[in-house]
Amino acid sequence: MKQHNIERIIDSIDKLPTLPVIYTKLTNILEQSNATINKIANVISEDQTIAAKVLKIVNSVFYGFPNKIASLQRAVVILGLKEIKNLVLATSTLKMFEQLQSGHELDMKSFWEHSIGCATSAKVLAEAAYLRNPEDVFTGGLLHDIGKLVHALYLPQEFSSVVADIRDTGMPMFESEKRIIGFTHDQTGRILAEKWGFPEEVTNMITEHHLNHEPCNLTKEVAAVHTGNILCIAFSLGSGGEKQVPIANQKAWEILGLRLGALESITGRIIKLFREAISILEL
Ligand SMILES: [Fe+2]
Ligand SMILES: [Fe+2]
Repeated sequence: MKQHNIERIIDSIDKLPTLPVIYTKLTNILEQSNATINKIANVISEDQTIAAKVLKIVNSVFYGFPNKIASLQRAVVILGLKEIKNLVLATSTLKMFEQLQSGHELDMKSFWEHSIGCATSAKVLAEAAYLRNPEDVFTGGLLHDIGKLVHALYLPQEFSSVVADIRDTGMPMFESEKRIIGFTHDQTGRILAEKWGFPEEVTNMITEHHLNHEPCNLTKEVAAVHTGNILCIAFSLGSGGEKQVPIANQKAWEILGLRLGALESITGRIIKLFREAISILEL
């Protein structure tokens, strides 16, 4: 029965549409040695929704640039290729799943609020810990629970049983998924991330965000998403369906090298950025 569920998940992921074509095009262009700023900006402009969202994010308090960035060319120059690619990945995935909602038990509004809450918290932690790539961590946080969406869409009965089970027992969702589905949303997220060709570090943040695998690949980026997930649940920023605040892994906090005293200013910044992000992503 559980083996059957795993096959159903893999099968349904195979049937999912691919990411908007501009992400693949962008990945291909970036692999070429003659990629130019104009070529990259032109590919992004092919999808007006994504282009507009990228510019909106670049001009938000997330980046805090003093002057308005009016063109994609300028955005590519200022942010750099890798960061632009991850921003396009995040907006493409959002767009893709916006088209897939209905008829399941996951409250999509709350789910995206939780995803944005985790992305914001993880980014603020990454900045406080002086990681070199807080925007990649934002993308990892935004997509960390994407496997839950696959379960809700393609294993709706089992997903309902998991929701009822965690309501009754208060256990973490991944524990309940192991019992009922035989597969956890972080594992499902990894399969999806690999199929869609996400960058390795983003796939790793999705796979390891609960630090529930042995051995696990605990990087600083994973530590930021793991801790960010817990903080946003603690602050009730949206809901990914968990009923209790998960227990934080001590090693994740240690690897970030943050003092406990820093938590107050981190919290203030998370709440401020969260409100901004919700309005940018039009929830
Ligand atoms: Fe999760
Ligand atoms: Fe989560």
